[in-house]
Amino acid sequence: MSMECDKKTAPIGVFDSGVGGLTVVREITRQLPHENIVYFGDTARVPYGSKSKSNIIRFSEQIIRFLKTKQVKAIVIACNTASALALDAVRDEFDLPIIGVIVPGARAAVEATQNGEIGVVGTDATVKSGTYTKVIRQMDPHMHVREKACPLFVPLVEEGFKEHVVTEEVIEYYLESLKNTNIDAMILGCTHYPLLRSKIRAYMGDKIQIVNPAYETAMDLKRLLQNEKMENDGTEGVSSRYEFYVSDAAEKFVDFANTVMPFDISKANIVNIEEY
Ligand code: DGL
Repeated sequence: MSMECDKKTAPIGVFDSGVGGLTVVREITRQLPHENIVYFGDTARVPYGSKSKSNIIRFSEQIIRFLKTKQVKAIVIACNTASALALDAVRDEFDLPIIGVIVPGARAAVEATQNGEIGVVGTDATVKSGTYTKVIRQMDPHMHVREKACPLFVPLVEEGFKEHVVTEEVIEYYLESLKNTNIDAMILGCTHYPLLRSKIRAYMGDKIQIVNPAYETAMDLKRLLQNEKMENDGTEGVSSRYEFYVSDAAEKFVDFANTVMPFDISKANIVNIEEY
């Protein structure tokens, strides 16, 4: 097998603090149906949204070292919090292409807004880092960005409260202040929030364009693989393989995964990530 062919069939590594990154995997499987994927969800140490930068960098380094043992050709940090706090550090440290979700999401919002007023919702750590605001203003200094942390959205999704009336109340509680502004585009800056999209859309109304960085990230990944001539176009004849690894609670992960993914996931393997 040639080196080029090796690279094409090598898997993409995708990681997140837990289950939420499956929204990104879902988009990758739609847009790049022939790619093999190795997913790691850090279910033992979730949530990252309330952790410090130094720990989020350490966790990300360990996960990338693990994914490298699977010979991945590129890595997608599906977690907004890890993308916001650790992407620059790990990019300097590791010798393979690594993309996060912030730049693709920011770019889509800059393209979507008509009036330059953008809202961003995310975890405490993502919002405190101000990374979305920084990246958006680097793309266009005229943009005005309002960020809002919505920490209860993650447990609501994980507890299966997507359709619950409590979730509608929490959405109103967090988003009222954004709704009463002029924003005309809003980034769902957390892996779990696309799973609340229809409720968020119903509350915010049709005038606000909702941006899902998961979709944009899969498009960026596709461009990266094409530019590097690493895209798996399926000509090798092997059907796509998906492997799932977690640091704890594999069964809970599989149950949740099967509510998000369009195909059946039969198992997730446990990894002792502290060893990496
Ligand atoms: N995956 C995280 C994110 O996208 C949300 C869950 C967490 O706090 O770890 O920011």
